[in-house]
Amino acid sequence: MINIEQKGVKRLLVLLAVTASLLLPAGVFAAQPPDAVKQDKLELGKKVYFKRCVWCHGVQGAGDGPSADRLFTRPRNFTQGTFKIRTTDSGELPLEADLITTVKNGLPGSAMPAWGEFLNEEEIVSVVNFVKTLVQDRDFNDAEDEVNVQDFGSNPWNTTGPYHLGVPQEAIDQGKEIFTKNKCWECHGGEGRGDGNPTMKDDWGFPIVAADWRQCWNFRGSRRDPFNPFNIVRTISTGLNGTPMPNFREQITIEDRWKLAAFVNSLCPRKKIDRLTNKPINDFLISSENTLGPVAKDMDDPMWSTPFDDPKVTKWEDSEEYKGGETFQFRPRRNYVALAGQITRGDRNFRPMVDNLWVTSRWSEEEKAVYFLVEYHLRFLSQDPENKDAVAIQWPAKLQDLFGAEKPYFIFGDSKKPVHLWRAKFLAKDYDPTNAPKEDGYQLDISADEVNGTGFDAVKVREDANEVEVVDSEYKQGMVRVLFKRTLTTENADGNEVQLETEKFMPVSFMQWSGRNKEKDEHMAISTWYYTILKPSIPNSIYYNAVIMGVVFAGLQGWLVWMTKRTKKMYSSGKARQDELPL
Ligand code: HEC
Ligand code: HEC
Repeated sequence: MINIEQKGVKRLLVLLAVTASLLLPAGVFAAQPPDAVKQDKLELGKKVYFKRCVWCHGVQGAGDGPSADRLFTRPRNFTQGTFKIRTTDSGELPLEADLITTVKNGLPGSAMPAWGEFLNEEEIVSVVNFVKTLVQDRDFNDAEDEVNVQDFGSNPWNTTGPYHLGVPQEAIDQGKEIFTKNKCWECHGGEGRGDGNPTMKDDWGFPIVAADWRQCWNFRGSRRDPFNPFNIVRTISTGLNGTPMPNFREQITIEDRWKLAAFVNSLCPRKKIDRLTNKPINDFLISSENTLGPVAKDMDDPMWSTPFDDPKVTKWEDSEEYKGGETFQFRPRRNYVALAGQITRGDRNFRPMVDNLWVTSRWSEEEKAVYFLVEYHLRFLSQDPENKDAVAIQWPAKLQDLFGAEKPYFIFGDSKKPVHLWRAKFLAKDYDPTNAPKEDGYQLDISADEVNGTGFDAVKVREDANEVEVVDSEYKQGMVRVLFKRTLTTENADGNEVQLETEKFMPVSFMQWSGRNKEKDEHMAISTWYYTILKPSIPNSIYYNAVIMGVVFAGLQGWLVWMTKRTKKMYSSGKARQDELPL
């Protein structure tokens, strides 16, 4: 009689299963034992862990290091052996190779850094093996705790390159049907902005939100290749352990999973991604296009549509729509503006809900007015009149007094250099976040006001100022859109209202408050200074390009050098802190 409890026999059975599975047709996956801990790596692994990882993941790996409370999502608690990004089946341990890839590339959208920038291969393999020893509820050395590597098929369209373009529209359309049928929208929202369900929790009891598919660079499993549909196929096939994200391996055939992935992927705008921050590179210059006649006050007018709504266009200036066809009007670019939490002052635990805005601008000679369309993704809005949602455009109040590249302090200015804010505050009418998102969106109860700042403690609403208007606004499918208008110049009795000039580079920055997250006053998401220019009607691209490149370069340098230094510093000390923004 064979005692099947005997380890040796079990091993043999597993081996047989592995061998057998090699002979099986595609679509069936191979059972194998987990990758055992490599004992000879543990000494180095422990060293690396206590230098680099302990700050977030804690001494015992319980996800409770000194930085943990500040972070959302929180650092992983390793003790249960629950790992999100795997090639193995739902609920199973990951392969060692999965963990190595994770540690190398980090988990974008969370504080987990891409360690490939800071550690060598040997250190990464070693620290991964050490992490495996922190798992208590399961055992990587237990051959009976088998893992099944999933069958992911292969990319049917052989897309490559940074943007993975070239998937036929037909496949994308079919993917959309698969999306509807499988109710991904219950969590991810009707247009994929993650606005489907405000009440989800992860396995550790912390609130969690569904991924925003239109910001694929924040996918935890994007592996620094955010436009690659494989990453989505992997997620749908394996689920994300520890989260409400299920696997769909039974419900959806592998062919259909690729089509679904193509659809999800098609929603993400093709922006150039900065390798270090894993986010799109900012568009530091917001050109305001000169408009013949008046500007449309309806945001849905084609005048406001931009080809970045079309994922196939990667470079705006090259697109056919850049020139607006017959009338030879230039269409404005939709600019990506990064935001960060303001934590120079006040509560350091504060983390904002929104980390970017899109800004599009037009101006009209006839109306002597400028328009800014500000758009951002926000999964859930406030319902509390005491904590409204808000967004603002910040200007130096006295442009004419600034020399060269001088700018006011970027958070509400300072006593020598005041700022002028155009601000919109709003609540959505009849809004309830637990309802399925309304297809045609919500109207906003919105009002504009103007603010002067000469520092943190000196922020004053301009009581009788009324030149700034919101001419259109809405909240729809997880996206806020606000169209600001102001005349280029104003009466300006006290000299504290910005006076706009044409053909001049003017500093501008943006602020945003999420009411539901109780963001208020200095608790906000904020950008660094960008530049805007009201372009002349006849483009002189050669002259402008040179100047524009200079300005953009200066802006980029400031921000990127700062980001790089900050990131390097944080990660080499092992601490992810949000430090002050550059001035
Ligand atoms: C700045 C904080 C921080 C540091 C330092 C850090 N991590 Fe993480 N780590 C996180 C966060 C946050 C998560 C969870 C993100 C999520 O689940 O969305 C995470 C998750 C993980 C996971 C789980 C991956 C998965 O698929 O679920 C692994 C493995 C990991 N970290 C390994 C490491 C290693 C190894 C180091 C040191 C070399 C390290 N981390 C350092 C913040 C950090
Ligand atoms: C029950 C809710 C729920 C359903 C249904 C759901 N998801 Fe998710 N999904 C989530 C959550 C929650 C996350 C984010 C997990 C995290 O942040 O760790 C997520 C994350 C993702 C991600 C990002 C993965 C990554 O690497 O970060 C993708 C892609 C995704 N889901 C695709 C889908 C598709 C496609 C469907 C439908 C077939 C679907 N989801 C259905 C809850 C859901």
